[in-house]
Formats: sequence, C-alpha cells, structure tokens
Amino acid sequence: MRSLIDILDLSVKEIEELIAVACDIIENPAKYAETCRGKKLATLFFEPSTRTRLSFEAAMYELGGNVIGFSEATSSSAAKGESVADTAKTISCYADIIAMRHPKEGAPLVASQNATIPVINAGDGGHNHPTQTLADLLTIYREKGGFDNLTVGFCGDLKFGRTVHSLISALSRYSNVKFVLISPEELKLPSYIKKDVLKKNGIPYEQTTSLEEAMPKLDILYMTRVQRERFFNEEDYLRLKDSYVLEPNKLKNAKEDLCIMHPLPRVNEISVSIDSDKRACYFKQVLNGKYMRMALILKLLKEAQK
Ligand code: NCD
Repeated sequence: MRSLIDILDLSVKEIEELIAVACDIIENPAKYAETCRGKKLATLFFEPSTRTRLSFEAAMYELGGNVIGFSEATSSSAAKGESVADTAKTISCYADIIAMRHPKEGAPLVASQNATIPVINAGDGGHNHPTQTLADLLTIYREKGGFDNLTVGFCGDLKFGRTVHSLISALSRYSNVKFVLISPEELKLPSYIKKDVLKKNGIPYEQTTSLEEAMPKLDILYMTRVQRERFFNEEDYLRLKDSYVLEPNKLKNAKEDLCIMHPLPRVNEISVSIDSDKRACYFKQVLNGKYMRMALILKLLKEAQK
C-alpha cells in the first residue's frame, strides 16, 4: 500500500505531477468536486494543529468526500494505552485514507506498516512533515517558476523544525541549490541531515547566526518558530524564543523578489507589519497546502484501487 511518510517517498517526477494536478484544481475546481464521493479521510491528530488538520479536511470536502477523526490524543483510545499499530488496523476498517500527526518520530511509519489503507504523515515529532513541504514546493513553484538555482535561507529552530528537515530533503534534488542555515548554536540543523542529505548530495551550505549577513544572498527566506513543545526545559525556550524577529528594517538589504515563507503558526518571528509586503508568502502557503493535499489524496486513493 502506497503511503507518504517521507517527502523522498515521492520522486521528482511525481512531485511535478502533483503540482500539475494542484494547478489544474486551482483553474478548474468544479472538475474535482465529486472525485472522492463515497470516500472517507480519517484525521488522527495526537498533537495540536490548525492548518494541517483543517486543510486536510477542507481538501477532502472539496473533493466530495467525507471526514472522520479526532484532534487530540486524550479523546482517542491512545489515552487508554492503545498502540499506534492497533489504532491503524482499526481505522482501516472505517476509512479509505489516514492523515496522522503524532509527537513520536516514526509513529506514522508504524501506522503505515499496520494499516491496509494509505497513511499520510501529517508531522511526526521533530522529524518530518512532508505535506507542509508539498505546500512549500507549490508556493516556490508559483513564485519562482521552478526549483533550480535558488539560494534558500532557513532561519530559527533548525534542530526541531520538522518542516525544515523535509523541505531541505526535497530541495536537495534540484540543480544548483544552495542553503544558508541561520540559527542559534543550540538549534542548528541535526548532523544526520547534514550528512545524509547535504554532504551526500554535494549541496553547498553555510551555517551562520546572523540573519543580517545572510539576507542579501537569499532568494527565499524560510522563517520558523522555536518549537517550544520539543524543549526539555522552559528556561532554554525563553532564552532562545526571540533569537530572530523579522521586521521591515531587516529587509533593507534583501532582494526585491525575495520570497518570505513560514509554515505558521508564527509567534514573534515575523512582525505583522511584514504582512503587507509583497514578498510575504506565508498565507499563500496555507492556500497552496490545501490544493496539494487534494492532489495527494487523489493520487494515493487512485493507487490504492490498483
Ligand atoms: C508546523 C508543524 O506543525 O511542524 N506547522 C504546520 O503544520 N504548518 C510548524 C510549527 O508548528 O512550527
């Protein structure tokens, strides 16, 4: 059964096809309005979410399908001690496809090994978040026309930020991509990603603590929230949370066509006064996420029928 656990589960060609379907959905929504009639999506969210869960649900409704699920672990049998494997087997009896978010790295993978329906990883701990990456890729595609020759800055919590990990993996497959990794010392990109993704693919990257110095080089600036829920103590979080705050004056050396992204939710990382700047793309990411999830649901359900 085909699932989406890691963004690299999709080939470059499949990502291209998903983008093409998403663009067709944007142009011709009526054509897709009945394509999932009679199908059910189960959203199993063991961690808080606004965009990911509701965009999956909106996506399924716009395809004519239905949605079941829960939005907190405490209201599911996990609270009684049920395993992820048993939950996946159970939901396979009720639904046609699962979107799962879980605080434990690897939980959606375990679910996919036990479910008889496709499982989509909607975020697993500080590990991966492939459908946010699909949203990010469609945004970059629509803003920049493609993925080659881009210098992409990631700023903030690169250690625990799962959206960063998945997007770095995805972009590493395109030509002449460069990364600038901007973070405090304690929140640097994990070394396994540097080794398995960046060094393995010969991707040039630099690490810095200075957003100001990095700014003039960037085609894309991907800001992130410091991931409070992954910290072992509150003191460290409080010390690091406002390491980077993007304000209009910090953009004075930025490119005219910089694309400012953020997976959201934002806390303080981007001042609201940036929202009216034409370079702000974070609410476009939200909308693009729904279209890419529609395309993904269609693809996985179609493959499940084969
Ligand atoms: C992200 C996540 O859950 O990892 N949110 C999202 O899905 N758009 C980013 C975050 O929570 O900081």
